[in-house]
Amino acid sequence: MTSVKNRSIKGVITVPGDKSISHRAVMIGSLARGTSRVKGFSTGADCHTTMEAFRAMGIEITEKDSELTIKGQGIHGLSKPAGVLQMDNSGTTTRLLSGILAAQPFVTELSGDSSLNSRPMKRIITPLSLMGADIRSKNDNGCAPLIINGSRLHGITYDSPVASAQVKSCILLAGLYAQGETVVREPFLSRDHTERMLKGLGANLITEGVTSRIIPGNDLSAMDLVVPGDPSTAAFYIVGALIVPGSEVTIRNVSLNPTRTGFLNVLLRMGADIRIESVRTSCGEEYGDITTRYSELHSTTVTGEEVPSLIDEIPILAIAAARAKGTTRFEEVKELKAKESDRILAITENLEKMGVSCYSDDNTLEVTGSEKFNGAHIDTKSDHRIAMSFAIAALCCDEEVTLSDRDCVRISCPDFYKALDSLLR
Ligand code: S3P
Repeated sequence: MTSVKNRSIKGVITVPGDKSISHRAVMIGSLARGTSRVKGFSTGADCHTTMEAFRAMGIEITEKDSELTIKGQGIHGLSKPAGVLQMDNSGTTTRLLSGILAAQPFVTELSGDSSLNSRPMKRIITPLSLMGADIRSKNDNGCAPLIINGSRLHGITYDSPVASAQVKSCILLAGLYAQGETVVREPFLSRDHTERMLKGLGANLITEGVTSRIIPGNDLSAMDLVVPGDPSTAAFYIVGALIVPGSEVTIRNVSLNPTRTGFLNVLLRMGADIRIESVRTSCGEEYGDITTRYSELHSTTVTGEEVPSLIDEIPILAIAAARAKGTTRFEEVKELKAKESDRILAITENLEKMGVSCYSDDNTLEVTGSEKFNGAHIDTKSDHRIAMSFAIAALCCDEEVTLSDRDCVRISCPDFYKALDSLLR
């Protein structure tokens, strides 16, 4: 990528459908009774991994222009796949699907790429085993490949040590099949799309604060869903507009689910000019249009309680912090080490290459704002959110910035560069 020499970004765009909601639409739509229609399905590779897994288990899914038709067969309608279920790079597919597979009358094996196969799976093996599941790490290292021999499950009350929507959703989906009530409590509230969708389709699920309980028995009805734009993708363009002088960008139809918009609160606190308009609701999920203008930012502290609501936005918030006055502190961020790459390392290593001063320890990240970014070769670690964050940082660097792997953006936003180019003035 060559330098774009301080060109501003201006215009109106949309972003792909939300990745988290798209995954759940395929999974829960497949377990529902009847035909679901899902408009605005994510164009990202991760959600196609989920789609292929359900196709491999006999679910008929057609895709045309980001619109899916899913012929749901009820919770007992999956069939044994012919081979290993390919998880590619997708942690969400692996962890949520494991909850469903734990209760099927067949054995499955799940395996992904080298990044996926090194991510922690004990966090789901432990609670599923407590529910009576037969699930093990094939290489006995707490990671995928996972071998799951479906069995009869019973409900549990589980205090999750991590605020993780993937862990919570895995347990709630297993709870659909368990005997008795299943209760999950988490330290802080993580994204709640699974709860909203299951409830909306008729599951007997109640959420109070950080506790959700599900009682099985109800059939899930099919859905007609419009997936709102992914706020985690919108965040890159929002920060781009904030840090490049003269910029103004509007992103239409972005999810405003409060468990996802922590990054907007942090940016507002840093002095960002952000306007939200035309707020609407689809299937229990709020969305609206976000307009952002160049702003002089100042530092802030992001607390552990806020982290689950902005976990995927920390790399791009670190770029905003690198342009802000003062030192921004991100607390209790050790979960970042368990993402598609060790994101604490990827952020600090690459920002330092650009001349930005950073500090990190096991659980904290600090970034001190700088008026100048140096040109650099960025090691993206083949992590889509690292690549997109540094492509945005490159907008305010007048030397050359290159990325070791540009294509990894396909995981969540294959047209990321095309949309960015369309905004350059
Ligand atoms: C996701 C939850 C988050 C997030 C991931 C998607 C989801 O992971 O980082 O990109 O769709 O449930 P954790 O729940 O493990 O923090």
